[in-house]
Amino acid sequence: MSREAFVNGQYKVFDSAMVHVEDRGYQFADGVYEVFAVINKKIVDYDGHLNRLFRSLNEISLKSPIVKESYLFHIRNLIHKNNIQDGLIYLQITRGVAQRDFKFPKNVNSSIVITAKSISMENYHSKFENGIKVKTTMDLRWKRVDIKTLNLLPPVLAKQKAVESGCDEAWMVDTDGYITEGSSSNAWILIKDKLITTPATNSILKGITRTSLIKALKKNHIKLLAKRFNKNDIKKANEAFITSATQFVMPVIKVDNIRVGKGKVGRYAHIFKNAYMEAIQLK
Ligand code: PDD
Repeated sequence: MSREAFVNGQYKVFDSAMVHVEDRGYQFADGVYEVFAVINKKIVDYDGHLNRLFRSLNEISLKSPIVKESYLFHIRNLIHKNNIQDGLIYLQITRGVAQRDFKFPKNVNSSIVITAKSISMENYHSKFENGIKVKTTMDLRWKRVDIKTLNLLPPVLAKQKAVESGCDEAWMVDTDGYITEGSSSNAWILIKDKLITTPATNSILKGITRTSLIKALKKNHIKLLAKRFNKNDIKKANEAFITSATQFVMPVIKVDNIRVGKGKVGRYAHIFKNAYMEAIQLK
């Protein structure tokens, strides 16, 4: 079965789905995006992701190229056309095609691209059983990372550094020595029975997975602290995690040379994963 992408109002065969060389996403990273997971042909936490997309658009004064109600239709079409059982939807909106000039172009439609790809839930579950390793890197990003923009060079460089050190994710550290978040995920540690995650300020992206997990934990009476943490706190932690639309809940067993707890996936990891999987909204 061939893949298809949605590009500016049309469904295109994947290999010939193109954007213009003067698209402002390409020229300036002038745009925003969202990533939705698909489980069993259903979109995970659709409303949360769509609402965050509209918040991101609003924060950078970008107009949605299609009405809010049409997103679900096109995403569902792509799930169907690409025969996705479990997968990921990538959705990107930019300030359109215009001669390269920093200021906003006038009377230009914003561009939209939506793609879909399959993922294996088995791979996720087996990765979960081993946990992942994390490397800390400097957080080199701008001051509005609460907006999900295309401006991704710092996380790209952070992730590459992590991978070159044999790790799966980078935890970015601010100038005060606190972990802000992962290069493409939120960061969590568990000290005794208290789960700690960085507060949702302008210094992190408020993850939709994070929000769903927090809701799930409230139901399960787990103590949550939205509080900054640093490497000394990681040394005291018995477990650690990342969350994102692509990794769901994923245990962390090592941060730099610090073994988290016993250096193995702990029992809370399973509790949190199950609680999260039960709490997600499928559409
Ligand atoms: N990234 N923090 C950052 C910097 C992220 O890029 C992401 C997600 C998250 C988690 O957000 P959510 O739970 O809503 O996926 C936190 C996506 C998956 C990506 O860029 O691929």
